[in-house]
Amino acid sequence: MTSPVSAAERRRPLVVAIDGPAASGKSSTAKWVARVLGFRHVDSGALYRAATAATLRAAPGDTGWTEDAVLAAAAAVTLVPGETSFHAHLDGVDAEEELRGGAVTSRVSLVARMPRVRDWVNAMVRRAAEGSPVVVDGRDMGTAVFPHARVKVFLVADSWERAKRRLVQRLERVPTDAEIADEVDALVQRDAKDEAQTRQAADAVLIDTTYLTQEEQVERIVAIARAAMR
Ligand code: DC
Repeated sequence: MTSPVSAAERRRPLVVAIDGPAASGKSSTAKWVARVLGFRHVDSGALYRAATAATLRAAPGDTGWTEDAVLAAAAAVTLVPGETSFHAHLDGVDAEEELRGGAVTSRVSLVARMPRVRDWVNAMVRRAAEGSPVVVDGRDMGTAVFPHARVKVFLVADSWERAKRRLVQRLERVPTDAEIADEVDALVQRDAKDEAQTRQAADAVLIDTTYLTQEEQVERIVAIARAAMR
C-alpha cells in the first residue's frame, strides 16, 4: 500500500485518500471513516458540483460555458470546516440540495474536465488538509492531489450493485430489476464521461465492495489507516 514514510511525512497531518467511480460508496464511506478516526471529511466532488451550481446561478440558460466563466462564478464557493466534515457553501450558504440536483449532475462532468477548474479544486482540498488530518474522496485524490498520501484506497463495485445502492438511497425502497437496469445505463454513461479523471494510484489498496456491507468497508479502511498511523 505505501512506501517507507520519511520523518517529514510523519509530521504532516495524515491524509486518507479514497477514490473510485460514481456510486461506489466513496462519500458515505469516507464520511463514516472520518467520524471513526476523528478526522474531517472533504468531498472533492462537491467542489466540482459547487462550481457548476455557481455557474448555473450566474448564467441561467447559458449553455456554452467557458473555463473563465466557471472560474469567475466559482469565486462564490467556500469550503467551510464543520465538526466532522468540510462543507461547500455557495454565497456563504450551505446548498447541499442544489449541488445534488439534476441540473448540476448533468453538467458537472463538463466542468470537471476543465484543467484550471481542477487546479482550483485541488488547491482548495490541499488547503483543507493542511491543518489537521482528513479523509478526502474523489477520483484523483491518491494520484494528482495527494500523491504522497499515507493511505490510499480505490473502491470499485459491480455496476448492478452500484445502481441498486443508488436507487435504494434515492427511492427509499427496494427497486425493481427494470429500474436497476435503467440506472445501470445511466451509470455506465457517467463512468464514460468521468473516465479520464478517474485514476487508481499504483500504491492504492483496491477494495471491491460488491459483496461488502458499508460497515465492512469502513472497518477495512479504518484498519489500514490505523496501521499507517502506528
Ligand atoms: O462524486 P461526484 O458524483 O459528486 O462527482 C461530481 C463530478 O466531479 C463527477 O463528474 C466526477 C467529478 N470529479 C472529478 O473529476 N474529480 C474528483 N476528484 C471528484 C469528482
